[in-house]
Order: sequence, then C-alpha cells, then structure tokens
Amino acid sequence: MNDLLAKIEANAKRLDVHVGPGRVGTLEREGAQGSVFAYLPETNEADFVSLLMPVRLQSYSASSALIPVFQQNLPEGFLRRKITQRFGKVLATDDLILLALTGANMIGRQKIVPSGFSRDWIKPLRVDVEAMMADSQAGVLFAELLDEFIGFGVSGALPKVLVQERDTIHDAQWILKVGDTSLPSLAVNEYFTMRAAAHAGLPTPEFTLSEEGTVFGVKRFDFDVAGNSLGFEDFCALLALPPERTYGGTMERVVKAIEAFTVGPERLKAKEGMIAAQLFSMAARNTDAHLKNFGLLYSGIGDARLAPMFDMVTTKVYPQYRNDIPSISIAGKKLDVADKTFVRFAQERGGMTTTGLRDMAIRIAGGLEEAAAELIVYGRAYPAHQAVCDGIVEQWKSGVQMLDNLVQGIGARRKPIKEEVAPVPQPKG
Ligand SMILES: Nc1ncnc2c1ncn2[C@@H]1O[C@H](COP(=O)(O)OP(=O)(O)O)[C@@H](O)[C@H]1O
Ligand SMILES: [Mg+2]
Repeated sequence: MNDLLAKIEANAKRLDVHVGPGRVGTLEREGAQGSVFAYLPETNEADFVSLLMPVRLQSYSASSALIPVFQQNLPEGFLRRKITQRFGKVLATDDLILLALTGANMIGRQKIVPSGFSRDWIKPLRVDVEAMMADSQAGVLFAELLDEFIGFGVSGALPKVLVQERDTIHDAQWILKVGDTSLPSLAVNEYFTMRAAAHAGLPTPEFTLSEEGTVFGVKRFDFDVAGNSLGFEDFCALLALPPERTYGGTMERVVKAIEAFTVGPERLKAKEGMIAAQLFSMAARNTDAHLKNFGLLYSGIGDARLAPMFDMVTTKVYPQYRNDIPSISIAGKKLDVADKTFVRFAQERGGMTTTGLRDMAIRIAGGLEEAAAELIVYGRAYPAHQAVCDGIVEQWKSGVQMLDNLVQGIGARRKPIKEEVAPVPQPKG
C-alpha cells in the first residue's frame, strides 16, 4: 500500500477527470492551495463535471482550495481520521492527494484518478448485502470491510463503506454505515426515521437494517436502471460552497439553486420536496438536515431533479443534540416549529398551495405515527435498542403535535370567512 501511496503522491499534481466512459478534462494544483480545471477540447457538452461548470475552452479555477464540486465527496470525519492514522497527516490535509486516492470510487458520475492511472484502478468491494444484513455479526463484517480499503469517495462524519452487490444483474451499489459511541443505536434511528419518511410518501432510496441493528444500508440513487452513473451534486457544491460551510445554508438560496438548475415540472417538485424535507426534519426532530444532505440528481442538463431523502436521523434523541437548532434557515431564522414564517415561505417561495401544505403536514404526521408504532414493537424485541426507540417515539410525539397545530392553523384560515362564521341565532319574536 505504501508503494501505491508513493505512486499516487507522485502523480497527484495532475488528475484525470472522467465522466461516463470518457476522459473530459484535467484538474491541477495551482499555487500552494489553489486548483484549476480545464476541459479537453473535444469534450461533448453533455459531459460536464458540474451544473455550475458548463463545457467551455476557458479553464475554471479556485485560488485557495479545490473547486467546490471536487470537494463534495472528500472523506470527512471518521474516514478522514482513518486515512490520517494510516498514511500520516500529509494525505489528510492535502485535498488534491485525498481526491487522487478516493476519486475513482466516488458518489456521482465523475471518476478522478492520478494522471495516467486507469479509471478503474480501484476495484469495488463486492458484498452480498442481503446475506450480510441477515447476519448477526454484521457489525464485525462491517469493521472488516472498513479495514480492507479506504479509497471511499463519500462525505459525511460517520464510518461508512461503498460496496457493490455481489451476484446481481444490475450490480446494485450500497452505502453501509454505522454509528459511534456518542450516537447509540444510530442505525436503528436512521432506519426508522427513514421509514417514517417513506410512510409519509416522501421519496427515499431502498434501505435496510442489519439483523442486530448495528449497520444501516442504503441503496445508491446515483445510478439509472441500466446501471449507468448519474450526476449528483449536493447543495453545498451547487451553491459553490466548501463542505465546511454546510451548516450555513438558507432555504432562500436552496430555492434559487433549484430554480437555476431544474426545468419544467421538476422545478416545483424539487421546491416542494425541499419544503417537505424541512417540515419532516422539524417534526422528526432531525436538526442535521444541512446542505450536504440534499442535492440534485441528473443524467444531463435538462433533467435535474431533487435526489430522494437520505441521512434522516432523529438527532434530538441524543442528549448532546437535545438543544440543537436546525441546520438550514428560513427568513433568517433557524425554525424548529412550522410557524407563520414557514407557511409564508412555502407559499411565496415554494409555490405551494395552502391545501398542498396542509396535506403534506397530515401525511408526515401519519408517517411518523406509523413508524412510531413499529419502533415500539422493535424496541421490545431488541432490548439493546429499547431506550433509543422509546426516546424517538417521545420526540416524534411533540413533532406530531407541532404538525397538528400547523394543520389547524392552516385549516382555520383555509375556510372562506363567510362560511366559517356560524349564523348568529336571532331572538324570536
Ligand atoms: N442513497 C445514496 N445514494 C447516493 N449517495 C448518497 C446516498 N446517501 C448518501 N449519499 C451521499 O453520501 C454522503 C454521506 O452520507 P450520509 O448518510 O449523509 O452520511 P453522514 O451521516 O456521515 O453525514 C451524502 O452527503 C451524499 O453525498
Ligand atoms: Mg450527511
């Protein structure tokens, strides 16, 4: 591995960027920390590397960092620390080298490799996901996978691996993820919070929980049915922000990005989807719904759409997050209750009707109640997770109450005034 690392370091000043089957450009270091990207002259305009970077002859550059889209999938948190431990600080502090190590195996449709390397130099980890998740030792198997390789081009704080399903026709790809000691029963938490979203009719990828509840698996949505890679850009990248700014987002800017990059019916659908995701997060007591946990998915310039929901966790069940505030602001406020400001935003900026918003709140409340019933049963069956399951049910109760208040508030205003006012009884005679 150290020979390989030396080779990567030696070739990491200049990286080849591929989209689909072909090479589309070159990414190079510029100055000490900056970067420059140029398309190859023959690149087809459909093979762009980012919605923000149409194919053109003029190069793109950033003076003191990697261009944001190339930072999107850099390992963070656990995976980054692991790389530091194994290879030393140079690698973990040099984003270009980190990209060289992880770019062939990344979320989205780009593959980035040190110049001269084959685009497939990283062989995917092949796992029979169904069998692994059915195994009571899934947590141990996960740890082994994590040790096997570290070239995973995926962001996020928690330990995770990218794997390819073994022996399936379409070679489905999965992200497997675990919690850490500060987040007990995280996989159970994410599984049931995602179930609540699915029950509410919000789009989610396929997801699964290991038998003993330690590993959460989510099927990757950045592939089409034929197995071709789809472009995925999170809202941090779409707003040209580095990952460390992910908690500084506003819904106003998210909506602007949606309006800039989507066309036709997908535009309203994406805005509604983001409003639903924010309302769901408020009610599910998920304070971690930041810019990197949402994004657009596309196969080309004309079909960008909101990606399904992911990384939904009831964060407030954990003491360290109990007083946490939401991650994306609306009208300058981090709202944890869907108040008048939220309603006004949904209507005026999100293009939602009052009925649409009311139905959305009712569906989310229903989804949470359905998943809460499942959590109670699950907690009884798996005592190791019971405390967290009970805690989540408590959190959601207040969330459902908040949604009920929203529905009532909207309902009262929704009725035309004349019908609402009961006729005043007139004294007879
Ligand atoms: N189902 C999925 N398909 C494709 N990419 C995904 C999927 N789920 C998550 N991702 C990508 O992986 C990143 C990390 O996953 P996430 O669940 O958010 O981890 P963490 O809890 O560590 O933040 C996301 O920001 C997104 O880029
Ligand atoms: Mg995340």
